Amino acid sequence: MANGELVQGGVPQHIAIIMDGNGRWAQRRGLPRLAGHRAGTLNIKHIVRECIALRVPYLTLYAFSTENWNRPSWEVRGLMRILSEFLDRELRELHADGVHLRHLGELDGVEPALQKRVRSAIDLTRNNTAITLAVAFNYGGRADIVRAVRRIVESGIPAQEVTEQTISEHLYTVGMPDPDLIIRTSGEWRLSNFLIWQAAYSEYWTTPILWPDFTPQDLRRAVADYGQRERRFGARPEG
Ligand code: IPE
Ligand code: IPE
Ligand code: MG
Repeated sequence: MANGELVQGGVPQHIAIIMDGNGRWAQRRGLPRLAGHRAGTLNIKHIVRECIALRVPYLTLYAFSTENWNRPSWEVRGLMRILSEFLDRELRELHADGVHLRHLGELDGVEPALQKRVRSAIDLTRNNTAITLAVAFNYGGRADIVRAVRRIVESGIPAQEVTEQTISEHLYTVGMPDPDLIIRTSGEWRLSNFLIWQAAYSEYWTTPILWPDFTPQDLRRAVADYGQRERRFGARPEG
């Protein structure tokens, strides 16, 4: 930022959400955890629509981390099935709403039928322009950086020519701005390996509300709070 110029928040260009608390939501209702995951996916379209209404051009949702493989196998299988059902149920409407879908993470390792669904959803929506919805699934921030480094080395770029931009251009998020605002539901205060490179100067907003209960009004609250913040990027006010 030249001359210590300050940037007032305004509307975030990229919101990234750690959709946490599905398990606790179900537990509080005496339901199985998977019912919480299902309720969580039912909430997605409301939040996507609110982002479109707010003219937020990029939304990233953290749906499954590289560490989530460490959960019991029934939960992992259930989560895969719920994502498949989400695509079957919602793709047509997302497409009609002008949503351009992207995937962040490694599709290899996900079962072939789901891989195919994800690839065809991305293909179907590739020319949409209302919003880019990136779903981080089998995503880890460290895995993202390791993959970027491997690809840079493989491409033969000389070490002294590697810049921050080179790394950004080799991450899954290539072409997307860094997240301006990271929201985490369910009252936790950590990144859990989400977009760790890209989050260098993100603003954070957390709420005790569990993801299935997180409403468009809650999103507006987070965005309004973001709008009041002064982003300094290490600089300081003039004078
Ligand atoms: C977030 O909900 C969804 C995923 C991590 C897949 P959790 O399943 O982590 O819910 P809690 O944190 O146990 O309540
Ligand atoms: C982060 O939530 C991952 C997703 C929301 C997909 P977790 O519930 O897995 O994170 P930890 O284990 O509490 O850090
Ligand atoms: Mg959790």
